[in-house]
Amino acid sequence: MDLTNCKLSVAIVYASVSGNTKELAKELYQIFLKKSVGISFYSIEEFCVSDLCHYDAIAIGTYTWGNGDIPKEMGQLYKAFESISSKDMTTAVFGTGDSCYPRFCGAVDRFRDMLYVHTNLAATLKVELRPQIQDIQRCEKFVEALLLRARMYSYPPVNSAIRK
Ligand SMILES: Cc1cc2nc3c(=O)[nH]c(=O)nc-3n(C[C@H](O)[C@H](O)[C@H](O)COP(=O)(O)O)c2cc1C
Repeated sequence: MDLTNCKLSVAIVYASVSGNTKELAKELYQIFLKKSVGISFYSIEEFCVSDLCHYDAIAIGTYTWGNGDIPKEMGQLYKAFESISSKDMTTAVFGTGDSCYPRFCGAVDRFRDMLYVHTNLAATLKVELRPQIQDIQRCEKFVEALLLRARMYSYPPVNSAIRK
């Protein structure tokens, strides 16, 4: 097998109720599609946490609930990252929130702090409610930062084909 041709395997896993974070996740997905990577797209309901180790990099998307809280449906994923605790796993976290609340995108902050300790955290991105045209460039930078970090840490090339 010629490992030099292996593509990075990246997953986007997001939670969204009213669609803002889903829209941001889709925007990021479109950017990943233009890169030379394998990209998978899941809502949290579709994603099986035991599949985490099949990916070189994971981009987590979350809205914020309560008073800066992580949505309940993201709890299992949060705990899975805590218990995996692998610096080989490149991560990034993005989300939408409402700056009228005192803890703007508090769930992104909570994931960020945990992922920084337990994984190889590459980037964070916070967007006010629905993504706007001016957020596209920030999305591009987010994707670039994730891929740069993942490529740096996956030498010799590692991907799902040899992990499975
Ligand atoms: C009950 C409730 C609590 C919220 N708490 C926060 C919060 O603490 N911080 C924040 O930034 N946004 C908060 N929000 C705003 C949502 O996170 C924001 O509308 C987000 O874009 C929703 O994402 P979604 O459309 O993907 O579901 C709250 C919204 C509701 C309805």
